[in-house]
Amino acid sequence: MEEELRRALARLVDGLPPRKASAAVERLMAGYRGDTPTGAPMLRDRADVVAYAAYRMPATFAAVSTALADFAERTDGWRPATHLDVGGGTGAAVWAAAAVWGDDGPDGAPRRTTVLDWAEPALALGRELATGDRHTAGGPGEGKALRGTEWRRQSLRGQQDAASLPAADLVTVSYVLGELTEQDRGAVVAAALDAAPAVVVTEPGTPDGYARIMAARDQLTGAGLRVLAPCPHSAACPMVPGEDWCHFGARVNRSSLHRQVKGGSLPYEDEKFSYVAAVRPAIAGEPATGRVVRRPQKRKGQVLLDLCTAGDGLRATTVTKRHGSSYREARDVKWGDTWPGPGTA
Ligand SMILES: C[S@@+](CC[C@H](N)C(=O)[O-])C[C@H]1O[C@@H](n2cnc3c(N)ncnc32)[C@H](O)[C@@H]1O
Repeated sequence: MEEELRRALARLVDGLPPRKASAAVERLMAGYRGDTPTGAPMLRDRADVVAYAAYRMPATFAAVSTALADFAERTDGWRPATHLDVGGGTGAAVWAAAAVWGDDGPDGAPRRTTVLDWAEPALALGRELATGDRHTAGGPGEGKALRGTEWRRQSLRGQQDAASLPAADLVTVSYVLGELTEQDRGAVVAAALDAAPAVVVTEPGTPDGYARIMAARDQLTGAGLRVLAPCPHSAACPMVPGEDWCHFGARVNRSSLHRQVKGGSLPYEDEKFSYVAAVRPAIAGEPATGRVVRRPQKRKGQVLLDLCTAGDGLRATTVTKRHGSSYREARDVKWGDTWPGPGTA
């Protein structure tokens, strides 16, 4: 899926003169750096959305795919028949859901997806990417969920718009809360938990993004939902705001446009993100007993893990050669993985 998205995005950028593409990215990123609740869409025209899709969509796709995969791992094989992506823009979360659950819902019919956004150019480009060549040329059923997505214009501004969302099995709200006023954020999360038994909210992995995730998490747990990922519990987060923030990293291969705009030679970068995935009791699943909340440190003969745990809050542990198969597993464990892992005795 990542490869297909990458190809679709590369085709898109090929159509733009390089200078125009970098200028659009720079303008867009300048807008995104500020305090962002705005009175009108920032993605105003095709150049804006091509810049967004080429420059940011691979990263938001990587972050949401990781969040959805972590969430899926904690359920007992649950999969959504319907998906609502709120503030979905060019559809990163729709591609991510396809990467994690494939095209079909539990009944074998293609998942029905709706993307809501107030930026018509973003919806148009999302539709174009989702219905691209690969999907029409693919085998039977291939890409059906993406192709069948409904791209619907809706504002999330003000109580009336933010508070009414159509029902679905899964609601994703990815990289959106930071663009809303505090009041609208609360209304959108409230509407999301009314609309669906499963809600996954993703934000940039900054202290502010984490604070928005914590506010959403409080709202979700306050309404009786259980957190399945990343947290091993639904109690208060043990991280101290202002001192630390819970976030993870998703590896993103940099495109030629990235290198053009950012310079540097690394072929990849890590997109930092914070997220919460919560469900109503109707969805069976259990959180992990522990999750690795920092990049593991590997020393000769030992691995140091910083964990968030169900019973013990934040805890550091050292796994040494003496631990045998656990040590071998710890050598491969990554930031954001669960611990103990599935194969650990
Ligand atoms: C940073 S983009 C994220 C897009 C997509 N969810 C992703 O992960 O790539 C934020 C999106 O939220 C939309 N948005 C921001 N404020 C909105 C509002 N008040 N009503 C509807 N959509 C809004 C923007 O148009 C944009 O598509």
